[in-house]
Amino acid sequence: MDKQGCQQPHPRPGPDPQELTRREFVQNTSMAASASALLASMTATAEEATPDDINLAIIGPGSQGRNLILNSVKTPGIRYKALCDIWPYHQNYAKNYLKAYKHSVNVYSDYREMLAQEKDLDAVIVATPDWLHAEHTIACLKAGLHVYCEKEMSNTIEGAKSMVVAARESGKLLQIGHQRRSNIRYHHAIKLITKDKVLGQMNHFSGQWNRAKRLEFGWPKDEPLDEETLKKFGYDTMDRFRNWRWYRKFSGGPIADLGSHQVDVFSWFLEANPKAVLASGGTDYYKKSEWYDNILAIYEYEKEYGMVRGAYQVLNTTSHGGFYETFMGDQGSMVISEDTRKGFFFKEVGAKSREWEEQSETFDKMDKKAFELKIGETLTPDGKKDPKGQQLLAESQKKPHQLHLENFFSAVRNGTPLSCPAEVGFETAVSVLRVNEAVEEQQKYFFKPEEFKV
Ligand SMILES: NC(=O)c1ccc[n+]([C@@H]2O[C@H](COP(=O)([O-])OP(=O)(O)OC[C@H]3O[C@@H](n4cnc5c(N)ncnc54)[C@H](O)[C@@H]3O)[C@@H](O)[C@H]2O)c1
Repeated sequence: MDKQGCQQPHPRPGPDPQELTRREFVQNTSMAASASALLASMTATAEEATPDDINLAIIGPGSQGRNLILNSVKTPGIRYKALCDIWPYHQNYAKNYLKAYKHSVNVYSDYREMLAQEKDLDAVIVATPDWLHAEHTIACLKAGLHVYCEKEMSNTIEGAKSMVVAARESGKLLQIGHQRRSNIRYHHAIKLITKDKVLGQMNHFSGQWNRAKRLEFGWPKDEPLDEETLKKFGYDTMDRFRNWRWYRKFSGGPIADLGSHQVDVFSWFLEANPKAVLASGGTDYYKKSEWYDNILAIYEYEKEYGMVRGAYQVLNTTSHGGFYETFMGDQGSMVISEDTRKGFFFKEVGAKSREWEEQSETFDKMDKKAFELKIGETLTPDGKKDPKGQQLLAESQKKPHQLHLENFFSAVRNGTPLSCPAEVGFETAVSVLRVNEAVEEQQKYFFKPEEFKV
């Protein structure tokens, strides 16, 4: 628990905005001033703005919203103009947070008012709880704005589908926050697997997100939302408002919250959508929870060479092994994670050797069968250092959310492709939300190819 009485969110690299306490950011202006001086030296400031700036607003600058603010102000030419949040405590927190980066914003409680008042916005970041993504995203798209919307795209398949339709009809960009899609290390791994075929024929995969306890947020006891406001926005209690992840009305549960990141990677690396899923889950430990605290799923993907099967689990009572994805073939296996300590290639005994293995500095010295994935060093399979290696190395040092936001901003500015457009986010939403149905029905769920299409 931090000083706000809030637990930290699930592990993500880099400093968490919630480490900055309420006193530091809400009450103590001198702290904000000194933070401002420090941060201004680290990043381009809004004072250096040009007419080419991307004018941004954010809806829902809570825990993840502030992480996105932190990772977006590092991009030159980003200018925050407005924020919207129903909780005055988060309004102030985020406003002061942005002030520290020299972004002066108008503050709103109602997104409709914000969209009506703010006339020169280009794009909006949506970081509200999952059940509101469709409503907020569609309103922004209809207002003619590009949207970066956090994952899970929606807590319902219908919601996610309506977002794809709205993006198409508006002609605006919709990026979904599966940030691994912009991660240089993941791009390196997928190239090694799909182009260089280092795993040979890939037959299996597995993955997990294990954490010691379920994520729970508290709130400063002198700053609750009043009952009327809570009810007006559909929450009933402060606990439901803060711990929306564990309630069915607001979230798709852990398989959507955490699993969506990794199931998205399975489909991306396999270049396919699942054919079927078998799953088991329950509220075995947190008995009063609405959503399962543990889920084990077995996915099946059909490739031209046969069936690829994989096991995935989300557990909230043990952190054993942390979070990662593993791909297994007849020539070797690859472990990859957003946790930068986990990126390895294990070669099968008897697998054919490649010239680059002998020249690589990234060999594990133990037995020449285990390799650490290092960007810029093992990039080419033929032993040649890629001339872009150093540039990629520098990119790979950036935080995952920063890379994904940069991908979005580049698409807005230059028309470059989004790495997770609405259609991709939708396929992932279908792939994870059906798991809950499989658990409920105690049956294997068979996906129809048409349910991945809008
Ligand atoms: N990509 C990632 O790695 C990652 C990590 C964590 C969370 N997320 C996603 O980010 C989103 C937010 O998660 P969080 O952990 O920051 O939750 P949070 O509860 O800390 O933040 C949500 C914010 O939305 C505000 N809000 C609620 N209802 C609103 C409404 N009707 N209008 C305006 N504001 C409203 C809340 O006051 C709060 O400030 C979720 O979709 C979550 O899945 C993504």
